[in-house]
Amino acid sequence: MEEVINELDRWLRHEFVDLNTELEEAYFAARSEILDGPDLDKTKQAILEDGGTLIARVAGTGRIPGDARERYRLLGAVGFYLAACRRHEVGADGEPLTTAWSLANRLGSSLGVAPRFVFAHQSIHNPAVRGTFLTFTSLPDEEVFIRGNALAVLAYQRAADALRRIPPMGVSSPMATYLFEQARAALDDVLRFNQALGGELDADRFFLNIRPYFKTYRVGTVEYRGANAGDFAAINEIDLLLGLSDATDPFYQHVLAEKYPYVPPEDQGPLRAAALAEPLLEAFLREAATGPAGERLRRNGGLFLAVCRAHAAAYTYHHHRLVKPFLERPAEDAPQDRREGMTASGPPLDVVIGGLARLSDLRAARDRAGLATARAALDRLQALLAAGA
Ligand code: HEM
Repeated sequence: MEEVINELDRWLRHEFVDLNTELEEAYFAARSEILDGPDLDKTKQAILEDGGTLIARVAGTGRIPGDARERYRLLGAVGFYLAACRRHEVGADGEPLTTAWSLANRLGSSLGVAPRFVFAHQSIHNPAVRGTFLTFTSLPDEEVFIRGNALAVLAYQRAADALRRIPPMGVSSPMATYLFEQARAALDDVLRFNQALGGELDADRFFLNIRPYFKTYRVGTVEYRGANAGDFAAINEIDLLLGLSDATDPFYQHVLAEKYPYVPPEDQGPLRAAALAEPLLEAFLREAATGPAGERLRRNGGLFLAVCRAHAAAYTYHHHRLVKPFLERPAEDAPQDRREGMTASGPPLDVVIGGLARLSDLRAARDRAGLATARAALDRLQALLAAGA
């Protein structure tokens, strides 16, 4: 089995990349999301059939890896193949997709995750070979996009890791000072990585040649929503630990429940646990209400407010400088028949953007009609800290 899995991995790193890149260059030259034509159709068929043959060999062993990490990697490999077939619109019911679907379902259910590739397969579960990680194409913009997103995810994880350690020691602990500083530095890094991505990525390349691999695709009879860099527990842990989102808010509960099968297996526990800790904002208000804030509480409180501002800045950038120019703006020029399926999750673009805008306002504690955020509580904390000075 190991040998046939390695053969699939080798193909994905070489021929698969060349075939996708050849198609992408043709689409890009025509400034079109997709094109047909005898030569192009031959290339699309090569992806469908060559990948299908290799996956059938893996499935034909009748076994799947015993090691969970290897199983997850194989799910990603099958997912890359299925996503490329979806992107180039080849293959329908029947072979070779049926065999790939069956293998994906077997792997997904053994791991308790959606049976498709997610962003974790492109980033942290994507072993580089001689400096190159697995991508769909060899286009520089794809590498820029994956690297930029993955670095931001790692920085979010660093911030979540620092914040997660604070509740057991209390918000006025001298050790918490260091952790708040760490969280703030990590969230400043998120903004820095997002800014670098926004500066480096070519909007047309992203829209025409990279985004289409992130679409929904079918596994058997079920259409699974597409991949995005948000499919990690860390950002939600940060929202809930800071107290900017509320675990009892039905909108936010839906965000968490929907995301659960799309995060890597090791993130499912933290995602479940995120809603259990007392939010740091509440802990500060509780301590500050007991009497004049001492020096340490004021110092940590000031840092906490700076962490909240850093979280707001990074996510506001995502909304206004990544989602809008790289997706919403170019979508306005897309042909009408291509406007459906524009988003990773499947709903129409305006619905997705509406949900992201709500998350952005919650994270920035920006009250607006119909949305009460943590703004009043943050202002109260600021006043209490100032009064205790
Ligand atoms: C060109 C760059 C990017 C674009 C166009 C973009 C676009 C989007 C879109 C459209 C969604 C919603 C997915 C859907 O439901 O269809 C989304 C979700 C998300 N993205 Fe990005 N994104 C980009 C980069 C990033 C980066 C660098 C990060 C940092 C880790 C990030 C973090 C998130 C998160 C956390 C979500 C989930 C929703 C949430 O909790 O806010 N994205 N993104």
